[in-house]
Amino acid sequence: MDAPADLFHPRHYAKVRKPLLQAETLPAWCYTSPAFYQREVERIWRRAWNFLGHADQVAKPGDYVAQEFAGIPLIIIRGKDGIVRAFANACRHRGSTLLDNGSGSCGTIICPYHSWSYGLDGTLLGAPEMHKTEDFKPAENGLIPLRLEQWGGFLFVCFDNAAPPLAQWLGGLPDKLACYGLEDMVLARRKIFDMDCNWKIFVENAKESYHIGTVHKATIQKYASARSAGYWVEEPTGQYVITFAQHENSMALLQGDSGFPPIETLAGRREAGGTYAPLLYPSTYLACTIDCAWYLELQPLGPNRTRLVHGALFPRSRALRPDFEQLAANYYKRWDITIEEDIIASDRQQRGVASPYAVSGRFSYREPLVHSIDNWVLDQVLDAP
Ligand code: FES
Ligand SMILES: [Fe+2]
Repeated sequence: MDAPADLFHPRHYAKVRKPLLQAETLPAWCYTSPAFYQREVERIWRRAWNFLGHADQVAKPGDYVAQEFAGIPLIIIRGKDGIVRAFANACRHRGSTLLDNGSGSCGTIICPYHSWSYGLDGTLLGAPEMHKTEDFKPAENGLIPLRLEQWGGFLFVCFDNAAPPLAQWLGGLPDKLACYGLEDMVLARRKIFDMDCNWKIFVENAKESYHIGTVHKATIQKYASARSAGYWVEEPTGQYVITFAQHENSMALLQGDSGFPPIETLAGRREAGGTYAPLLYPSTYLACTIDCAWYLELQPLGPNRTRLVHGALFPRSRALRPDFEQLAANYYKRWDITIEEDIIASDRQQRGVASPYAVSGRFSYREPLVHSIDNWVLDQVLDAP
């Protein structure tokens, strides 16, 4: 079905707004329309606290990551004072980007166009041949800072200077996950997957268990059916949805594979027998299981293109073990296989919803969070009724 001219009028989405078992799925154009995507950039990505990776990516002073996020080139860099900052990746002279996308380390940031140089804290240090320019004040020509805050070793950037602080976005999530000790975990591996699907398709997949018996029937389904004792959706107190799955052993290993001992601080708690898996809006999946944690960071690149970054987190003491790489390989195997299974499913769904014959469907009771996520998106992007 073609997208209507008044794309953001609430009447086109009334059936998505109904209770789960009466509701329809989002219209197909929500996953394909450039105008819908552009509205998400403006109303979601440019307003939210966006998850942009882990502090271990910039472990030492001078370490940086340059990337584009929601169309904005930016730099995340650790200063000589140890503080991690974010800046717009744009020279104050005539606007060139300063660092090419990727990661590295530098002592100063030097513009590749006319060699203006900036300190790691964004201060303009040198601007050759500018001494005759009237009223030019170097102190007023530093890099433009972006809001960056951290929680549990994760880096968040917000492009909206009027938005409340990160703590308000996260609500009660840090307390709920405190016993996992995320801040004492190391980022052991980071793996990038490029997907040919809309970001919502992958996010919806990440937060429903309905597909596990089909998509993962040869992998985690065996594990889930044998050991899973329960699966609950818990009430969120911030910008996220969250499930708790009760089961024995690690959710991050295939059946029969060996791994690390449980996280000590979980002993005796309900969390010691299960996995918390929040989806932090807009698009970061996090899973905390009994021996490790992992995240799926989504970077929207267009209506039907999304970059997925998988981050593997283990308690620091595990990473110091001589057998760390050998055991960690079992976890990487499980993640790589299941992520590929989910990407294949997501790319198939994208091809289907891009068809002129695509129509809205109905939800199973197994898909409450797909419905929640879709309604959260509508809350952000629709015009007021
Ligand atoms: S644009 Fe950077 S020095 Fe000219
Ligand atoms: Fe899956």
